[in-house]
This record gives sequence, C-alpha cells and structure tokens, in this order.
Amino acid sequence: MSKVEITQRRLAATARGVGIMCDFYIDKAKNAELWDTEGNRYIDFAGGIGVLNTGHLHPKVQAAVAEQLTKFSHTCYQVVPYESYTEAAERINAKAPVNGTAKTFFLTTGAEAVENAIKVARSFTGRPGIISFQSGYHGRTNLTLGLTGKVAPYKLGFGPFPADIVHAQYPNELYGVSSAEALASLQRQFKTTIDPKEVAAIIIEPIQGEGGFNVTPKDFLQGLRDICDEHGIVLIFDEVQTGFARTGTLFATEQTGVKPDLITMAKSLAGGFPISGLVGKAEIIDAPAAGGLGGTYAGSPLALAAVLAVLDVIEEEKLCERSQQLGDKLRARLESLKDKIPQIRMVRGLGGMIAVEFMKPGTNEPDPKFTKRAQTHALENGLILLTCGMYYNVMRFLFPVTIEDEIFEESLGILEAALTHAAATAEA
Ligand SMILES: Cc1ncc(COP(=O)(O)O)c(C=O)c1O
Repeated sequence: MSKVEITQRRLAATARGVGIMCDFYIDKAKNAELWDTEGNRYIDFAGGIGVLNTGHLHPKVQAAVAEQLTKFSHTCYQVVPYESYTEAAERINAKAPVNGTAKTFFLTTGAEAVENAIKVARSFTGRPGIISFQSGYHGRTNLTLGLTGKVAPYKLGFGPFPADIVHAQYPNELYGVSSAEALASLQRQFKTTIDPKEVAAIIIEPIQGEGGFNVTPKDFLQGLRDICDEHGIVLIFDEVQTGFARTGTLFATEQTGVKPDLITMAKSLAGGFPISGLVGKAEIIDAPAAGGLGGTYAGSPLALAAVLAVLDVIEEEKLCERSQQLGDKLRARLESLKDKIPQIRMVRGLGGMIAVEFMKPGTNEPDPKFTKRAQTHALENGLILLTCGMYYNVMRFLFPVTIEDEIFEESLGILEAALTHAAATAEA
C-alpha cells in the first residue's frame, strides 16, 4: 500500500492530537539506518527521541530479548518475581552517582519514573510541594505536565494541573539569566510563594532536553544541593533523556560534581524496549510501604533482558568514550560553519548530546523558520533530525552512539548541505 493511502487511513482512524513528523512509514531498521515501506533509506539522528544510544536492534539486545521470549513474557513482577529485575537493579545501583547507598525499582515510561520520584519524595518528607523549572520537560501525564515548564504544545487545553508545583527560573546565560540570579529568584519564591519546609522535592534535568539541550550550570546545581540540604528537600535529577552514554558518561550527573538523592531513567536504558526506573538513596526509595509502588507492566522481563544487554554493550563497546568522540566531531564541524552560516548562534552540549541554536544574523531573535528549513532539507536528503527549544530554534542530535564512522561522516555532509541551503534561502 502506498504511503498516501496509509496516510488517508491514518487520518480517518487515529487521533489528531498525536502529531507526526515524517510523511512515510518505517519498514525496517538497523543501527543508525532505517528504510521506509517504499524502499527509501534514512539515517536516524532522532533515535526514537533519545532511546537508541545502542542503535536500532543491536544484535546483543535483540538476542537477549529473543532468548527471554522463549521463557516467559509477563507475570507482573509484584505477583511472580524474576531475578533479572534484581540483577539490573544491582548493576544500576553500583554505577548510579547518588548520595549514599542506592536502591532501584522499575516502571514503564519516563513520565511514570518522574511520577514515582515525586511519590517517593512526598512519602519520605511528608510534604506536598515540588519545585520544577521553566523550559523543563518531564512528560505528558497530568502531574508531569504540571511539572513541565513549556505551555505549547504540551499543556494547551489539558488543565487543571496538580497544586503545590512552583516553576522556578532556569539559568540560561544566552537569554540573560545567570546562576546567581536564578538562585536569588528561587530564594524570593520561598518568601512569596512557597515555604521551603513545605517542599518535598526539587526536580531538574542536568541538561534540559525538549527545552533546548541547555546544560544546567554546575554552580546552579550545587546551589540547589545546598538549598535541599538546608531545608530537608529531596533533590531529583531527571536523566530520562541524558542517561546511558548520551553525554559521554553513563549518567550526565557524573559530570556535574553534585550528587542528587534520586535519578529518573528511561529511554536508552533498554535500546527501544519500554522500561523506566528510579534509582536513589536507599532510605528515601524505601519510604513508601510495600504495595505503594509498581504497576502491571512495571519492569517487564522482556525490557529487563534488554537493559542487561544494553549495560553490557555500553561497557564492551566503550560507548561513553565514543559518545564523547562523536560529540567532539559534530561540535567542531558546526563551529567551523559559523562564518558561512551566520544563523548559528551557539553550539552546546555534553559528550554526544549536542545541539545548535539558530538566531537571525546579528540579533537575539530566535529563528525557527531557518531551523525548520534546515530540518526539512535534511529529511528530503535522508537525514532525520529533531528540533527543540522554547522557540523551536534549536536543532538537536540524538544519533545512535554505535553509528558507523562512514555513516556519521555522510550525515555531517547532509547536515552541512541542509544548513547551507537554509542560509541561502533566508528571507531578506
Ligand atoms: C527529561 C525527560 N523526562 C521525562 C520524559 C518523559 O518520558 P516518556 O515520554 O517516556 O514518558 C522525557 C521525554 O522526552 C524527558 O526528556
């Protein structure tokens, strides 16, 4: 069936609210490449939004899941448990850069991991309040939308959101907000909006994902750690998008010099299989009573087989180092284009988590149209790219860290051609 016919059926049968970027339908995929139902080939720099650090169908991940499928696919862990859940928790606990001895439990989606982080923090502190940040993103459930600091398109028409959430100022030097100013602003909110003794948790992404790949300054994170220690608040780092070798380390937290109490994980934890988790300080994780945590599919045995394989692959293939190398290469290429493409305002990121922000030349005005033109040109030439940022003027790169060298080089060529095209077609 042609893609036009499938699209007609899709529009008639499925919800409009599920917005779709590509106008083609995938047939198959391998590592960094995918092919559509009409035989066209694409290089995937979206990775299912940061899920595929180990690529599409890594042979070890595929084999581990296939083997699990010969044994059992589901019991509900809370009914009949399996050892792989404990093994995966042990391996994550040994690596997680949290404050003190760690414990872990598993869920299914990133939003669910965030919801559970809040549940655990409230249970531990007995307090209701949560501080999250402007331009932060934490998911699409009602509570996580409440935490999310970007209105369109995520929150439009979906309120009311839960009470006791305060959005604090996020430090972003490019937009004129320093760490010191953001910390001072939070202290003012403690005077005007919420008593810090009523705050259960502060939740922040070490690098904002949807918000624009903004690297949260280390002094700001240290400032939050100090505030949490002073007032008995739980510090949560949301590593759903930054985790599992994306930033050059297993957790981005390792590079912050700050230890949070809880870390959310999902996406590249399992190379494409739906699972998420929460790792954190044992006494905090153990606050809820038995029966308070879990879910029918939470910690699926198929996804856990993938988790164990992903952890092996990251080590065996030295994916943290590779992420750093690929990120350095991409960053250098983008920096080298600054003279030719004056819309390039800032190249930023950590390890392989790189983005480029575009503004109209010589101004501080975000240029979403330039960004869209470049994204469209790249897609027409076989490179799938995602944008992000409060003003849709940031292009982010979420290539598989396992990408072959020659395919990475090919991608950089398509990217350069797309940016050159977008610059050449800029409005006067
Ligand atoms: C930082 C962060 N937290 C939470 C989520 C929500 O994850 P999910 O879409 O799996 O619910 C995302 C998704 O993009 C994310 O980037």
